Amino acid sequence: MPTSLTPIAAQGPKVSRFIAGYWRVNQWNKTPQELLRFASECLELGISTVDHAMVYRSEATFGKALALDPGLRSQLQIVTKFGIKPMGFGELGAQAVNHYDSSGAALIQSLDASLQGLGTDYIDILLVHRPDYLMDVRELAATMATLRAEGKVRYFGVSNFNTHQFEVLQRELRQNVPAGLVTNQIEFSPLHLTPLEDGTLEQCQLNDCRPMLWSCLGGGNLLAPASERHQRIHNALRVVADEHAVAALETIVYAWVRALPCAPLPLLGTSNIERVKTALAAEKIQLTREQWYRIWEASTGHPVP
Ligand SMILES: NC(=O)c1ccc[n+]([C@@H]2O[C@H](COP(=O)([O-])OP(=O)(O)OC[C@H]3O[C@@H](n4cnc5c(N)ncnc54)[C@H](OP(=O)(O)O)[C@@H]3O)[C@@H](O)[C@H]2O)c1
Repeated sequence: MPTSLTPIAAQGPKVSRFIAGYWRVNQWNKTPQELLRFASECLELGISTVDHAMVYRSEATFGKALALDPGLRSQLQIVTKFGIKPMGFGELGAQAVNHYDSSGAALIQSLDASLQGLGTDYIDILLVHRPDYLMDVRELAATMATLRAEGKVRYFGVSNFNTHQFEVLQRELRQNVPAGLVTNQIEFSPLHLTPLEDGTLEQCQLNDCRPMLWSCLGGGNLLAPASERHQRIHNALRVVADEHAVAALETIVYAWVRALPCAPLPLLGTSNIERVKTALAAEKIQLTREQWYRIWEASTGHPVP
């Protein structure tokens, strides 16, 4: 049964409560038909928002699936990102290093390639993938405003930005695009607690927007513990899962990340539709504060002060 869409920001678009991430799509070994089936099954489950990035090289792969069902595009909200230029990308020579480029020209070039790969003429939400230390916010915000006026991008956001980087771009963008930045896509999981302390979550609340959370399962590592810390978290999740009569630990992980007051939107990374259903089961789980802090304590290795 599809879940209803939810606003990502006060003046932002509606998105699904969970977002399907396609970073790893080229490792999934799915044919375009199989990928179309996966995306359609996600949609039936209410997951209409999909996450891509130029650097994932996922767009052309997904675009081949979309081309098989032209009616599907209008039912999706496509998020993609620009700004990372890895070695060997495009015209760069042998001396090139991985770098960031958030210039207006890089944005336009990357966006055009994204649109072409996906076979669409607009992106719902375009994110700056990582903060570029050489970011010229005035130029970037002006280019964003132009692309919005042209209808190529509906909304903008950022990813992996600290609070100051977010504020600097937000202030500039809001002068021409009142909706401003509609999200900060950041890493958060029981393995990665930094956002609890660095202000990024509260900043989203102050800006009336919701973060998207990546690698909530630590890229799968949380479920295959390889260290004492991983094992501690794993054990705590197991106990809480048993208390809720839930079989899958990832259901508890998603309930744990969704408990944050900023109402975050978790990204899923799985290629497996049964695992998608297991994640969605988190919508029905409400952890007690004591359970939430038990998982926090297992992660930090110490009780709250
Ligand atoms: N903005 C950024 O900088 C950034 C960085 C990283 C990721 N992202 C986005 O976030 C999305 C999710 O990241 P992620 O792939 O690292 O997420 P994740 O959910 O932490 O990890 C997914 C991986 O875990 C595996 N896995 C193993 N056991 C699983 C289980 N029981 N349930 C579910 N998955 C299990 C999956 O394999 P199976 O396919 O076999 O289930 C998949 O390879 C990405 O696709 C991308 O869109 C953004």
